[in-house]
Amino acid sequence: MQQRQLGPFQVSAISLGCMNLSHAYGVPPPAEQGERVLLAALDAGVTHFDSAAMYGFGANETLVGRVLKPHRRRFTLASKGGLAGVQTEDGMKRVIDGRPEAIRKNCEDSLRRLQTDVIDLYYLHRWDKKVPIEESVGAMSDLLRAGKVRSLGLSEVSAATLRKAHAVHPISAVQTEYSLWTRNPEIAVLDACRELGAAFVAFSPVARGFLCDALHDVVTLDAKDIRRSMPRFSPENYAANLKLLPPYKALAQEAGCTPAQLALAWLLHKAPHIVPIPGTTQVEHLREDLGAMDVRLDASLIGRLESLINEKTVAGNRYSEQSNREVDTEVF
Ligand SMILES: NC(=O)c1ccc[n+]([C@@H]2O[C@H](COP(=O)([O-])OP(=O)(O)OC[C@H]3O[C@@H](n4cnc5c(N)ncnc54)[C@H](OP(=O)(O)O)[C@@H]3O)[C@@H](O)[C@H]2O)c1
Repeated sequence: MQQRQLGPFQVSAISLGCMNLSHAYGVPPPAEQGERVLLAALDAGVTHFDSAAMYGFGANETLVGRVLKPHRRRFTLASKGGLAGVQTEDGMKRVIDGRPEAIRKNCEDSLRRLQTDVIDLYYLHRWDKKVPIEESVGAMSDLLRAGKVRSLGLSEVSAATLRKAHAVHPISAVQTEYSLWTRNPEIAVLDACRELGAAFVAFSPVARGFLCDALHDVVTLDAKDIRRSMPRFSPENYAANLKLLPPYKALAQEAGCTPAQLALAWLLHKAPHIVPIPGTTQVEHLREDLGAMDVRLDASLIGRLESLINEKTVAGNRYSEQSNREVDTEVF
């Protein structure tokens, strides 16, 4: 298994995003299926698992903790706080709260659900714009000094916010959406990470299924599937985006790999500090995704790929206006 540096840790160059096992893309799979995916990943040599307090309002951490606890020494565990489910009269509500007391509580809750004494990489899931980043990161560095987390990360931040945070405490990783159809990190964050010695963890690296040639009709998506609120997945925009797939698949064939592998191999070729974390509920898809580490791409193919799929050729924004307000990333 190829390795990449993630803060103080060496991890599998392709690691596993665990969100989909409990959250996001319609009805989550049964727990036994999630268990199979997690154990198959471990068996295949995956040494980094990514969860968050937010995923399934804690259900994902509970699953990851239960299944992976006996193997805790074999992998680097990441989770996130500052965004979590809060009980209200109308049920659980998603709340961004970066105040130190909220971060401390999120971390304690995560440690309990994950059944571990320490989280290796602890991210601020979203910068709470009502709280100076220095305050939130200050609280995270207190957790580190208390031995509850081993390194710090940020998610969906701009280069300027990363630098402010890094001045308070070294940041080991930035996790942000990055794939052929979401190129925002190329504006500044990828370079800032390289300069500061932070890894860049690419989430939604296979474009939430689009680049796997796996989703052809968005009308079939479950009512609770979060892609329904994403402009790129609206029926009109998605129909336009689907036209990119035949030439994309031809490039995958030329590279001797599957469409999903091409998306992941492209990320691995972009820079050595990038660690993609695809998510899947299927063991076969997991194995296919890991196979991207063996794919070699030449400059000509990369050039044609980048001209085919980029922010200008894709129809629709990645996020709704509401979700856009919650992130701090640079936009084209
Ligand atoms: N920090 C953040 O704010 C944030 C936000 C989103 C995600 N994340 C993290 O990033 C991870 C991955 O992101 P993501 O799940 O949003 O997007 P993704 O990995 O780009 O796409 C996941 C989708 O692609 C499908 N897929 C994956 N491999 C496939 C293959 N080989 N063939 C066919 N379909 C395939 C999966 O379906 P199947 O289940 O059928 O395989 C799933 O629907 C998450 O698990 C989470 O840990 C972080």
